[in-house]
Amino acid sequence: MKQIEVEIIKQSFGKEGIAYLDGKVVFIPFSLKGDKLLIEIVEDKKDYSTGKIIKIITPSKLRIKPVCPNFSICGGCHYLFTNYSEELEFKDEIIRNFSSRYNMPEDLIEKTIPSVKELNYRSRINLHITVSNDQVQLGFYEYSSHKIINFEKCFLISDKMNTAIQELKSNLNKNIRFLKKITTTLKEIQVVEYSNNEIIIAFNIYREYKELNRDYSEFTRELIKKSSNISGAFFIDHYKNSFKRRFISGNIKFYYKIDFKDVTYKFQVTPPSFFQVNLDQINNILKIIYSNLEQFNDAVLLDIFGGVGLFSLIFGKYFKKVFLMELNRSALYDAKENLNLQKNTKILSGKAEKSIKVFRPVDKGKTVAIIDPPRPGLGGKFIKELNRLKIDKIIYISCKPSTFFRDLDYLSSHYDVKKIQPIDMFPKTYHIEVIGILERKNSSKNSVS
Ligand SMILES: C[S@@+](CC[C@H](N)C(=O)[O-])C[C@H]1O[C@@H](n2cnc3c(N)ncnc32)[C@H](O)[C@@H]1O
Repeated sequence: MKQIEVEIIKQSFGKEGIAYLDGKVVFIPFSLKGDKLLIEIVEDKKDYSTGKIIKIITPSKLRIKPVCPNFSICGGCHYLFTNYSEELEFKDEIIRNFSSRYNMPEDLIEKTIPSVKELNYRSRINLHITVSNDQVQLGFYEYSSHKIINFEKCFLISDKMNTAIQELKSNLNKNIRFLKKITTTLKEIQVVEYSNNEIIIAFNIYREYKELNRDYSEFTRELIKKSSNISGAFFIDHYKNSFKRRFISGNIKFYYKIDFKDVTYKFQVTPPSFFQVNLDQINNILKIIYSNLEQFNDAVLLDIFGGVGLFSLIFGKYFKKVFLMELNRSALYDAKENLNLQKNTKILSGKAEKSIKVFRPVDKGKTVAIIDPPRPGLGGKFIKELNRLKIDKIIYISCKPSTFFRDLDYLSSHYDVKKIQPIDMFPKTYHIEVIGILERKNSSKNSVS
């Protein structure tokens, strides 16, 4: 295969650096702006190519030695080869590039808010598992493959979580016969560290073998007995999305504590419910939301894609009425628990696309929507519903800039974009969270009921 010399010009929103060959974009995984590289083209498409590094001819001046020996093999981290300040500049540039594609004025875009912690910030990880030569392989997938990296230490989680994972691995290795029987139904293992530093292991299974019930129970009991860093363990049965928790062992308290404005809020978050993984950074999201709620006392709040009720619980007291919309059964179970004392709040279970249709606009009062969708974003149909309801203010939180800017573009026919605030929830990875503040054009008095 032909080898070519290129220079990396910028970073992509992904794991790659970008070079140009005869005007065509070439994405090269794990390359950094300023690198001079010898590459091979591995895929040549009409609009772009993908290359792989054969040799670094001259490394970028921005390169530093990665702390992790698995960097560039593991699919988990993408920015361990440069300083955090550079990573933030890349993230700023990526957001500016998205906005210019949609002709949005640059002065709307704030600089990315750095994460409180650069490393050891994750409170939850999902590990893949397999058995090979009677030995457990437990870890993340290698970049662009389903081969598991059996890591000894991950730099994105706490020392305690790392120790717990090694204890778990050693226990799994002692139960290899049982593990082999269930391995095809055991899809992933979730390791969660709660606010009291207690670590819970959730084994996600997609089918349960009833004849092994005693083995499942014995396994979780043994695990807790033998591991000083693991407080609780159980299996989650995903069959037909039932999320049944089975064979629970240990002392399990599923609580995160979030302090905001001198109040400590407690959230029940039972795996596999969604919750922000970077707990210290949640406060920065809350501050942005809070600073945009001032003039909305006594309005209606729509907490769309509301999860376990993070925003409904913290901001509910500023509103006359709160509606939380959520689909996931496990998150709904937690939201009911978290919001049971909040009398002004109603939970609408099911697809938000459907729930939103029950509202109608009325001519009195105001409505705010906090919208925090999964990666696919909202799309045209959903945005039509928001337009129909004449919502006064939209706070749009997104974990995928490409769908975020697409949706802002749709929304801009009825809404003025006031501010775009990137916030780093996932240092050392390419992911970027963005918050958009939108106000209805010529907002007259309108509310929903
Ligand atoms: C990014 S999370 C945000 C959760 C919450 N706002 C928080 O910050 O904790 C997105 C949530 O949307 C839920 N979800 C996904 N698709 C949905 C849909 N079509 N309708 C309603 N909720 C959905 C997921 O279960 C998840 O809880």
